Amino acid sequence: MADAISFTLNDKPVRLNVDGDRTLLWVLRTDLGLTGTKFGCGEGHCGACTVLLDGVVIRSCLRTAKDVQGKEVVTIEGLARDGKLHPVQKAFLEHDALQCGFCTPGMVLTAVELLKSNPAPTREQIIRGMEQNFCRCGAHTRIIDAIQSAALEMNGNRQGQGSRGRSPSRRQLAAVVMDGGRQP
Ligand code: FES
Ligand code: FES
Repeated sequence: MADAISFTLNDKPVRLNVDGDRTLLWVLRTDLGLTGTKFGCGEGHCGACTVLLDGVVIRSCLRTAKDVQGKEVVTIEGLARDGKLHPVQKAFLEHDALQCGFCTPGMVLTAVELLKSNPAPTREQIIRGMEQNFCRCGAHTRIIDAIQSAALEMNGNRQGQGSRGRSPSRRQLAAVVMDGGRQP
């Protein structure tokens, strides 16, 4: 049976007629075409499906469409403003903080919430704050570097942290931090 579900998605109102018991993850990906939110484990363990719900990170594989009724959802596609990357996205790009990029949208959104609740975290606090998001490519060190760098920039204390020049190309990396890239 279809339910009328209304919520705000990336600053825009959305109204859907869907089975309200379907997972938010699959509604985002299939009904709304937002494939930046990834399906990893489907059981709440990996963090690939992380989105913000009223500013708090949630696992969209564990939430239903009904759970977001009247609420505000932000996915990786909604983080940039006027084509300008969020400082966390920018820092991931500058630090090559990804390889395959599958974990990246969830990592970025988790880091955004982390820096909101703790604008100047220690390296240890970043490690603890990110430990529920898994990266199978082992990019953890660069992810932590990126989050430290983003914290500095957001606190108006940017230090030069240039690219380390790894492949893939800048354009491919930018696509992943913007919207999860082409990866399904
Ligand atoms: Fe949701 Fe892994 S897909 S936590
Ligand atoms: Fe591949 Fe993290 S960059 S899983």
